[in-house]
Amino acid sequence: MSKASVVLGCFYGDEGKGRTTDYLAQFADVSVRATGGNNAGHTINVNGVKFAMRLIPSGILSNKTIAVIGNGVVLNPEVLLGEIDMLKSHGIDVDKYLKISNKAHVIFPYHSNLDVMLENKRANKIGTTKNGIGPAYCDKYERCGIRMEDMYKDNFEAVIRHQVAVKNELLAAAGEPTCDADEVVAKYMDYAARLKMYVCDTVTLLHKYLKEDKYMVVEGAQATLLDIDFGSYPFVTSSNPTIGGILTGTGLSARDIGDVYGVIKAYSSRVGEGPYVTELKNEIGDRIRDLGHEYGTVTKRPRRCGWLDLVTLKYAIDINGVNYINLNHLDTIGKFSTFKACIAYNVNGVETTDFSTNEEFLRDATPVYKEFVGDFGDVSKCKTYEELPEAARVYIEYIEEYTGTKVKLIGTGADRENMIVRD
Ligand code: IMO
Ligand code: MG
Repeated sequence: MSKASVVLGCFYGDEGKGRTTDYLAQFADVSVRATGGNNAGHTINVNGVKFAMRLIPSGILSNKTIAVIGNGVVLNPEVLLGEIDMLKSHGIDVDKYLKISNKAHVIFPYHSNLDVMLENKRANKIGTTKNGIGPAYCDKYERCGIRMEDMYKDNFEAVIRHQVAVKNELLAAAGEPTCDADEVVAKYMDYAARLKMYVCDTVTLLHKYLKEDKYMVVEGAQATLLDIDFGSYPFVTSSNPTIGGILTGTGLSARDIGDVYGVIKAYSSRVGEGPYVTELKNEIGDRIRDLGHEYGTVTKRPRRCGWLDLVTLKYAIDINGVNYINLNHLDTIGKFSTFKACIAYNVNGVETTDFSTNEEFLRDATPVYKEFVGDFGDVSKCKTYEELPEAARVYIEYIEEYTGTKVKLIGTGADRENMIVRD
């Protein structure tokens, strides 16, 4: 039986997970999303065309890979239908390849309104994407969520009207915009009809695929430090984007998991609020943002930028069982004549390499840096590891030595072909 490869973000998101999945999808029969919703934004360049994927696993871009949206995803039907139309306009046979879990929870307009309301009321803002992700997961755990399969039940209209009434009470009390039940019913009846052909029991399907020896790639969304349990709580998202969420979000078992690819950039970034030890609030951070085009795919917000943090990376590797690293933006870091990576934290005069998500610990931690030589030249032309300049190899091999983990995939530019693969 084949095993599933998993692609996960090691920091605060936007590490380039879509690219890893896109690369692995060349060999994959099936690509899967397990968690999150349209808070994700995965940019992939294929033959000069830029695809911004938010819900459908990037594997579908190969136009030969089945794309499964798993039960752990919270799904905004309007965004999904927009993505389906966009992919179809590029000749991708979505009707053939897309499968949606009957157990995925549906995002409704009141979820986004509640997201805005709750964020406005928060003393310490999280900086959510305002897509209703948190409130949709709240409903799931409160057991009043509406799943894809519920849209095809006789009482669907009554269920929507009930939920809209309950949520409108909360919104009205807070002076926030309420939802028009008739409008929501009309829209979601239409969405349900248009999505019906894709909805199925994906748990059974995935296990059937494994038994048929199909090679599967699970594309993580968000990242380790945004995990509701293992991230920098409360500045996190409302799901488990780490390895456990991959299992609960798909129905795969621990024994079904093969390689785990941890994705990082040669520097780091974070969007939204929360601690960030290696953040550079200066002209160097600005330069990283400009060179790396670090602006949100979803919200267009400028990302906070800084050097790579190896202390955090080791934590992400431990939590997720990462056995291969995919390092992206080698070209970007190579534009600096010298650059740094954090190799330890100094916390109130004590040096440590042990990570903790404790808020005070992260607030008090100052980075201990090691400096590297840059000026790599145009690495996008390098096809093999050996062709890379020595300075680039020194950096990569330091990361490997520090983490005890092989850097197998190296992103050297924005395009699909700018990826070095090491045996
Ligand atoms: P990808 O998959 C970067 C961040 C938001 C905010 C926090 C909570 O592209 O790597 P939410 O809307 O999820 O309740 O917001 O999480 N966030 C992301 N940051 N990349 C993402 O996804 C993110 N998804 C959520 O900015 O700080
Ligand atoms: Mg993103």
